[in-house]
This record gives sequence, structure tokens and C-alpha cells, in this order.
Amino acid sequence: MMPISATQCLISIFVFVLFTCLCSNCQSTQESQKEYVSIKRSDFPNNFLFGATTSAAQIEGSAKSGGKGPSVWDQFIREFPEKIKDNSNLEVAADSYNRYKEDVSILKDLGVNAYRFSIPWTRILPDGTLGGGINQEGISHYNSFIDELIKNDIEPFVTILHFDSPEALENKYGGFLNYSIVNDFKDYAEICFKTFGDRVKNWITINEPLIMAKMGYAMGVGPPGRYSDRKICPNGNAATEPYIVAHNVLLAHATAA
Ligand SMILES: *[C@@H]1O[C@H](CO)[C@@H](O)[C@H](O)[C@H]1NC(C)=O
Repeated sequence: MMPISATQCLISIFVFVLFTCLCSNCQSTQESQKEYVSIKRSDFPNNFLFGATTSAAQIEGSAKSGGKGPSVWDQFIREFPEKIKDNSNLEVAADSYNRYKEDVSILKDLGVNAYRFSIPWTRILPDGTLGGGINQEGISHYNSFIDELIKNDIEPFVTILHFDSPEALENKYGGFLNYSIVNDFKDYAEICFKTFGDRVKNWITINEPLIMAKMGYAMGVGPPGRYSDRKICPNGNAATEPYIVAHNVLLAHATAA
């Protein structure tokens, strides 16, 4: 089966949401259609950005190739396959790691002028640390990807951590439960800023800290899958860990930014 491009998928969702929002403000279907077609690009300011957005785990695939180290998402899927509704995994996803040029051309066809995507920490630093070495294959992949976007007049917005912190740091010191993560994140962020910052002007450090702390440490339904109830998770303490993690996420953000 041909994987559906993540971009196509997202754009459909965006159009659907836009249409639904407009409909909810209208009295009848007829009126809603009239209003839907009456919105033109020229109604927006010249510098208004129309974009699509993704995260690496959702679309990239190639979870074990390109020199990528394991992330907490890889660990979570291996340890708790039953927590994924349809048993899917990160191996292929929308295959965007391999088909990024096709995705960029679809974005171009759609007429968007911005794209937000995430870089997995472990594609740049496979074991999460500078000392463990930089993965040049990851660097050149995002160099090509960013160049391709810019060549097509699409402004890159880059998230450098979107729920996929390094599994090696989890094993080394407990990941975001330990203040040590602040310096490792700073090292990683600096590599991103130095390497891609000549072309990337818009950065998101850590995506949705609240969701990360809640799903991963207060519910056990997202990586790294920690929660107080031993019937659901082998480790975790929802009374303390979400707060420690949120604190370290904020410090990591502040130190990197
Ligand atoms: C954090 O990790 C270091 C090792 O990097 C360890 O010595 C320390 O005890 C850890 N702290 C906590 C609160 O787990």
C-alpha cells in the first residue's frame, strides 16, 4: 500500500476544521458555502503565513535508520504495544524521511508558505549527548530538507523536541526527571541553532510541556509511560514526577533559548 503523504493528510484535516468552524457560525448549509468561498487569500495581510505542521514521530518513519538513536517513543512502543490503539509503530509512518521532496512539492502545490516540523534529538545526537558524537547523516538530511523548503519559498518552523527525547538519557539518569537533562538539551539546541540557524529563523524548543508531563508521567499513556498505578505502568509516581518534569522542561527551554 502506498503511504499517504502526511502533508496531504494534514491539509485535509485543516480544510475540514476550517469548514466546520465556518459552518458552525452559519444558519444554513447554503449560507455556509457562500461564506466559505468568499474567503480569499487577499483578505489576509501580505505577511500572513499559511502552513501545515507535523511532528517527526508522526510522519518520518525510518525509526531505526539514518544513524538515528532510539527515543522514548521507540521504547514506549516496544514496551507497551497494547497502548497504541491500532498497534501501529514508527517504522514507516508516512515515510516522510525518504519522501520529503515529494512532501515539499505537495506543500508547494497547496500554496502554503510555512511548514512546521520537528527534528528528533536522536537523529542529531544518537545517545543524546555531544560526547556520544554527532550523526552527520542526520545533519545532512535536515540541511537538504530545509534547503528544499526554502527553494520552494516555504518558511521553515522547527521544533527541536516533540515528545521524542533520547532513550539513552532515560537509562543514564532518568531523562527529564533529572536536572542533568538541562545541559544535554542545551548542547543539542546549540548544534541545531548553529547548523541550521543561517536558514531557520523560527524555533520551537519543546512542544507542549504540559502534555508531555501529563501523558508521560501523570497518565502513563505517552512516552516514557510512567504512572502510579502498577496495573498500568511498572514505574512512576504521578504525585511528584509530572512536577519535576515540568520544572526541568522549563529550565531546559530557558537555558537553550
Ligand atoms: C541525576 O543524574 C546523576 C547522574 O548524571 C546522578 O548522580 C543523580 O543522582 C541524579 N539525580 C536524581 C535526582 O536522580
